[in-house]
Amino acid sequence: MSQEQTRALPHFIGGERVPAPLVHDSENPSDTRDVVARFPDGGKAEVDAAVAAARKAYPAWSDASPEVRSDCLDKVGDLILKRREELGRLLSREEGKTLPEGIGEVARAGRIFKYFAGEALRRHGQNLASTRPGVDAATSRESVGVFGLITPWNFPIAIPAWKSAPALAFGNTVVMKPAGPTPATAAALADIILESGAPAGVFNLVLGRGSVGDAIVHHRGVDGISFTGSQATGAKVGAGAVARQARVQLEMGGKNPLVVLDDADLDRAVTCALDGAFFATGQRCTASSRLVVTAGIHDRFVAALAKKAAGLKVGDALEATSQMGPLASRDQMEQTLAYVEIARKEGGRVVTGGERLTLEKPGWYVSPAVIADTKQPMRVNCEEIFGPVASVIRVQDYDEALQVANSGDFGLSAGIVTTSLKYARHFQKAVRAGMVMVNLPTAGVDYHVPFGGTRGSSYGPREQGFAAVEFYTQVKTSYVWS
Ligand code: UN1
Repeated sequence: MSQEQTRALPHFIGGERVPAPLVHDSENPSDTRDVVARFPDGGKAEVDAAVAAARKAYPAWSDASPEVRSDCLDKVGDLILKRREELGRLLSREEGKTLPEGIGEVARAGRIFKYFAGEALRRHGQNLASTRPGVDAATSRESVGVFGLITPWNFPIAIPAWKSAPALAFGNTVVMKPAGPTPATAAALADIILESGAPAGVFNLVLGRGSVGDAIVHHRGVDGISFTGSQATGAKVGAGAVARQARVQLEMGGKNPLVVLDDADLDRAVTCALDGAFFATGQRCTASSRLVVTAGIHDRFVAALAKKAAGLKVGDALEATSQMGPLASRDQMEQTLAYVEIARKEGGRVVTGGERLTLEKPGWYVSPAVIADTKQPMRVNCEEIFGPVASVIRVQDYDEALQVANSGDFGLSAGIVTTSLKYARHFQKAVRAGMVMVNLPTAGVDYHVPFGGTRGSSYGPREQGFAAVEFYTQVKTSYVWS
């Protein structure tokens, strides 16, 4: 059993660590005997206090020189990068992704803060000639106020970073509610923001379960809400925010197709599918969960992918030999196993995996599953599983592949593996998704470019990179006659 300590987590409100009764446990999914942290159950009172602190901090933070905000974010980025090994270990211990993935995610979070340190200095305004003589028109972008950020457990530091860094860069203040299963990673970020010398109240963190999120969504002092999570919760967050005319941005997952054409390089196709479907234990909204494969390469592809998947070493996220960690929680494991059963009942053929694994340490381990002979209308191809399950849909040709890729309610990411420029270009234009990957897995994105989807995957302005300014600022148009 892990000898690592159990952390006692406070809320972070108004620049203070605010201890409260520790009622929930954050357990290590690789070894459920190990309690990573104990944390309080915040609610309306803590959200009220956090929003009050954020409102109080807002005028000075918003009016500060952008250089002040830039320096602060740069420092946060440096501190995160300096501590990437230790924070990566904490992340992997708490969430269950392998250590290289955990360290990689922490580094990504550090880079995001440093990117937005630069963005803070770039105001995105325009000067225009008015249609009236002697008049000049100009646009400027202003901060909005307090942002409520509701973040998921599957990227416990990168997503908090890509929501809070732009919010802070453009002069807003923040109240964040991290997901129940990964509070220790979020608290580590809050600690670093405190340590960076950020003014009291610009970043507040309230720990707890659903009632914290509800209180944020309905609080009149919260001007905008950014949410990443399930479609069901997203619908509630969206309805609550729109009802009181708050800004809202929702990222709600995907059922991302990876099309493999006959002319694909087989090794490339298998590498993309393996990474897209199974890295991070398949728990990415960008995961390649539908493999849409043309008939001429289908059997070779399925055999090669199944062989690779079966060879993946599943184990404790912190062990160097592990290539895939456990599911993040018992719920995720049960959901994954239930979908494998559903697929079987619907006529899918489980080529490999999909079984609970009993390893030396008690944890939520499942073997990576490849399910062949599935059809698009089956539940496994329409509903997000959020586990290491790839279903394969055999199609005759590119046209059928495109039609299948465009089916369903989601439209986050879509990929194609082909050596044909003609099909690659056509797919880029015709696929209904917010992100298109050619000869790459559907998952794994850069931090300096926009992120987001179409249809049921996303709602509101895009996140990340140069697009983030849209959501975290508001435009003012000025006219001057002189
Ligand atoms: C990635 O694929 O690198 O929750 C990022 C998620 C997405 C992030 C995916 N919002 O899985």
